[in-house]
Amino acid sequence: MKQLVINGGNKLTGEIKISGAKNSVVALIPAAILSDEEVTLYNVPDISDTRALIDIIELLNGKVEYKDEVMKIDNKELENKVIPEELSKKLRASYYFMGALLAKYKYAEIYFPGGCNIGARPIDFHIKGFEKLGAKVEIEGNKYIFKADKLKGAKIYLDFASVGATINIMLAAVKAEGVTEISNAAKEPEIVNIATLLNNMGAKISGAGTSEIKIIGVDHLGKGVIDVIPDRIEAGTYAIAGALMGKDLVLKGIIEEHLEALISKLKEMGIDLNIDHNKIKITRPEKLKSINVKTLVFPGFPTDLGQPMTVLLTQADGVSIFEETIWENRMGHIKYLQKMGANIRLNDKTAIVMGPTDLKGEEVVATDLRAGAAMVVAGLSASGTTIINDIEHILRGYENIVEKLTAVGADIKIIEK
Ligand code: EPZ
Repeated sequence: MKQLVINGGNKLTGEIKISGAKNSVVALIPAAILSDEEVTLYNVPDISDTRALIDIIELLNGKVEYKDEVMKIDNKELENKVIPEELSKKLRASYYFMGALLAKYKYAEIYFPGGCNIGARPIDFHIKGFEKLGAKVEIEGNKYIFKADKLKGAKIYLDFASVGATINIMLAAVKAEGVTEISNAAKEPEIVNIATLLNNMGAKISGAGTSEIKIIGVDHLGKGVIDVIPDRIEAGTYAIAGALMGKDLVLKGIIEEHLEALISKLKEMGIDLNIDHNKIKITRPEKLKSINVKTLVFPGFPTDLGQPMTVLLTQADGVSIFEETIWENRMGHIKYLQKMGANIRLNDKTAIVMGPTDLKGEEVVATDLRAGAAMVVAGLSASGTTIINDIEHILRGYENIVEKLTAVGADIKIIEK
């Protein structure tokens, strides 16, 4: 069993290069199988979710070359196969093979996806979208079966601007006959990244990044090339670490517009931020002001940064209120923050944080990926030693986290217990 051990209290100084976005690459890799030729992805983060998707492509007889952040996926010998439970369960995003295989072969068999336990996580919007395009969906035990004689463009309204459903429907619709219109589509930057790759392969998608996406079906998708966008959640996590412990901590390779909600909240707390092109420099001020934060769909405050943000709120002067609105179960980290000394009252999906309180190192658990990120950030700012269990969640989403933080002065290591 692996544990992360952090001796907290060190100032963070120097530069961290932000990796490619997990939530983009996990859709770009399945999207690549829609090409009949070769697709090249640049800036691919080496995280366990990437490795799990490579296993699925290889199961489908695709050829993957992955070195120095460049991934080439060759689909010339691709075959449609059942995606078994041991692969589908490794991550949530295995569900993007539903849309991709359905578009390519009009047939897909895939076991239920896995992922963080942060709520019920239904995929009814995805399924309704596939059905609107003409697919029949069956559930056999723990397996979905999707089939269609042909897929036909349709008008699809999403009850909620779901990231996964928007991408999956886009994947299923790129080769459908006629025009598909997705209304109330999600607007996250990752969606634009996926649409850009698909267009580069020959798809006709417009409106990605707005709530109305139009897809004109095409017969063939060919070669494609894309840069994975920088991971705004990784950047945000390290920005929060910088707000707690930074002394001229520089994050390199960010896109400012993707971080606007976080930047505006950090400024409201009185944090000294210096943004220049794709770099952001952060130093912890003497005092942090308390604020209120509510998670929303993009461009609102991202749910994936809510957990690390609550750690920062424990150091603010006064009462801060944090409200999660996307997931039902994203407060798994709170009891461990309380164990470390935080004064937090939890009321369903709202955390009332009284600060500032000193945090002390403790043995804690990464209950999910971003809860784990919160524990890392807490451990960096706590006095003494923090030991984090279940760190495989963290390694699913943060590339070289130990190396990156060590390089800026943190005392952090992985041990085998
Ligand atoms: C993506 O999940 C991200 N995951 C999540 O990041 C992120 O928290 C989420 O978007 C919101 O930004 C990936 O990109 C792999 P949704 P996704 O569909 O697509 C409900 C992380 O920490 N819903 O936008 O699964 C759902 O239950 C992860 O990196 C339905 O009811 O999220 C939730 O309440 C965790 N029916 C809300 O919509 C559906 O069919 C938003 O979900 C689909 C979703």
